Amino acid sequence: MTSQKAFVRENTATVTPALVPEIQLNLANETCPIWLQAPEYFSKLGISEPFWAFAWAGGQALARYIFDNPEIVSEQTVLDFGSGSGIVAIAAAKSGAAHVIASDIDEYAEAAIEINAKINKVDIEITRENLIGIDKNWTTVFAADVHYENNMSLMITTWLKSLVGSGSKVFIGDPQRIFLPKNGLERVIKYSKKTESRLEDTDLQNAQVWRVL
Ligand SMILES: C[S@@+](CC[C@H](N)C(=O)[O-])C[C@H]1O[C@@H](n2cnc3c(N)ncnc32)[C@H](O)[C@@H]1O
Repeated sequence: MTSQKAFVRENTATVTPALVPEIQLNLANETCPIWLQAPEYFSKLGISEPFWAFAWAGGQALARYIFDNPEIVSEQTVLDFGSGSGIVAIAAAKSGAAHVIASDIDEYAEAAIEINAKINKVDIEITRENLIGIDKNWTTVFAADVHYENNMSLMITTWLKSLVGSGSKVFIGDPQRIFLPKNGLERVIKYSKKTESRLEDTDLQNAQVWRVL
């Protein structure tokens, strides 16, 4: 974990996501070399693409929604599935959740979440367990920007619907990706923000939160 944390620190800068000024995260920005690398660069290093280095539009939308509606996490046990930088988990922890679990299968995401939780002075449990199909009675479950591949998207949606069936509240953050099946989902809010950043701009104009029914 020491070398993963060093890699995260060396390739990011501490910045504030456009929709969520309450949070600071170590992320790639236009001046960081990691932003300019092709996928082959990461496969040569033997690591996954650094999804943890970006505050994805779905994550920003969910984090914004949590800060504006803290009652959805207040005193709850919260899972942030596919946490990446930890943006949604951090928003939940800062908004009064009793216990927050951030899940991500990528060890560099684990390092990034640990670093970002510390910057924001919150306690978050981090797990790399693949939780798809598992139910640990979380009261609120968030999944932001995880519907980017068709098969994975279908598996995640089936699982999230089963969690609702067992009594969890489930919210999805998404920038209008084609792989998000809308059947059984209700759109809660859409954020549209124009930014100067090439990294964030297009998706942040379509950043949406959905509730799984
Ligand atoms: C596009 S990123 C979104 C990160 C963050 N939620 C956000 O909105 O900024 C998707 C994340 O899901 C993680 N992921 C993919 N499959 C996963 C799984 N089965 N369990 C946990 N995390 C997973 C990836 O490692 C990646 O960090």
